[in-house]
Amino acid sequence: MTASILIIDDEIKMGKALRHVLQREDYSVEAVDDPFEGVKRLEVKSYDVLLCDLKMPGLNGLDLLEQARQIQPDLNVIMMTAYASAETAVESMKKGAYDYLIKPFAMDELKILIRRCLDTRNLRHENTHLREQLREKLQTENIVSASKTMQSVLQRARKVADSSATVLITGESGTGKEVLARAVHTASPRHDGPFVTINCGAVPETLLESELFGYRRGAFTGAEEDRAGMFEAAHQGTLFLDEIGEISPAMQVKLLRVLQSGEFQRVGDPAIRKVDVRILAATNQNLEERVKEGRFRTDLYYRLNVVPIYVPPLRERWEDVAPLIEHFLARFGRDTEKRFTAEALDLMSAYNWPGNVRELENAVEHATVMSEENLMGVEALPLALRSFSDRESEKGGAWWMEKLTLGEAEKRMLQAAMNRTANNMTRAARQLGITRRALGYRLRKYGLYHKELDRQENLPDEEPAMEELPDEN
Ligand SMILES: Nc1ncnc2c1ncn2[C@@H]1O[C@H](COP(=O)(O)OP(=O)(O)OP(=O)(O)O)[C@@H](O)[C@H]1O
Ligand SMILES: [Mg+2]
Repeated sequence: MTASILIIDDEIKMGKALRHVLQREDYSVEAVDDPFEGVKRLEVKSYDVLLCDLKMPGLNGLDLLEQARQIQPDLNVIMMTAYASAETAVESMKKGAYDYLIKPFAMDELKILIRRCLDTRNLRHENTHLREQLREKLQTENIVSASKTMQSVLQRARKVADSSATVLITGESGTGKEVLARAVHTASPRHDGPFVTINCGAVPETLLESELFGYRRGAFTGAEEDRAGMFEAAHQGTLFLDEIGEISPAMQVKLLRVLQSGEFQRVGDPAIRKVDVRILAATNQNLEERVKEGRFRTDLYYRLNVVPIYVPPLRERWEDVAPLIEHFLARFGRDTEKRFTAEALDLMSAYNWPGNVRELENAVEHATVMSEENLMGVEALPLALRSFSDRESEKGGAWWMEKLTLGEAEKRMLQAAMNRTANNMTRAARQLGITRRALGYRLRKYGLYHKELDRQENLPDEEPAMEELPDEN
């Protein structure tokens, strides 16, 4: 793409000459002699380089430089001056000019300067692009999202990341609410700013206020010096208020005030302070319920719940179980060949994970620590899983037959087979003793099939005839 250059010089002859030279270099060039006209052009069109005279009637070159940088912060500005005072040159560099030229200058000098200026500009763009890519990778690499459900949760998180909207993340304990909050921050324009976390449930109510807002020396016994709180620490970044459902009515009022006006006071300090902080909040409680019970302020609830994100429990996204096991094995079983037996994997797919991802993470860590063998069986798993397994086998092995409809039992078997084989449809079908086509049909019937399982799959719309089922196995 041809670079575009705008020349602003009150000397019409000079402007024309420059335009002529630069057009021969294949740039797209516009020249104006009126600085106000120049500003107008900057407002409607973006340029790569602005070449601007320092001394012009009406609008001073330095003021113009300032305006130009406000309108187009990315613009490279080269100042031209006949008055070779170091002062003005330095001044223009301070105000963000890329460089300056002292009149009269050789055209070659100008060409080289513009070339260099465009090169650094490209480099800068490339750098931002690389950083963006890296950021994209960082924020998703740690979050396992094989299930469609989790993918749409992540997609939603990325979408809200761009704005400064308050996000309320809900979900059972251990589902990954904090992980998601971090991802929102990392993907947001504030990613270079701080990410500050406070667990409102873990801080005693009397301390919470001074933790959040800071205090003035002498505000209470032990306040020996002025201290900033979390809100100030999170300035130009993100503040993550975890376990928000736990805060007292008095704190709810104070929080509401910051959310409404951005204003707050340190404890014992009358000065009103303002910060630029993006709020993310999380809770594993049903806040709506608490609002109905009168334990959580309605107005605060609506302030927080601008964008709700619900992270579903692990038992509702079975496709994540096997990849999460892999993910944590890679983390805890570093440098080892540790993996689970088919039996252990079966148990883990059948288990309902009341503690969600955190419980699974602990289970994998437990197993890698407990087991001396590389192949880890059921006995290496935590008690909760083993007793679940015992309970189920006492019921006669096929525990899922009880209280389940035929359809539910079938769905669980399909889930287990897919988990066991890491979504390998051919192997899962063989283990279940049906054809791939039949498996595909059933996965789709139960809403378990998605394109990640197999992109090329051509699924039958109707139940395949029984004779299609293989006799082997
Ligand atoms: N999708 C995921 N991929 C990888 N790791 C995950 C994922 N979800 C959660 N984790 C891990 O599980 C653990 C629990 O996650 P997190 O602390 O975010 O849960 P939480 O919802 O905030 O739980 P609580 O309500 O108890 O505070 C963390 O160690 C986190 O790294
Ligand atoms: Mg948490």
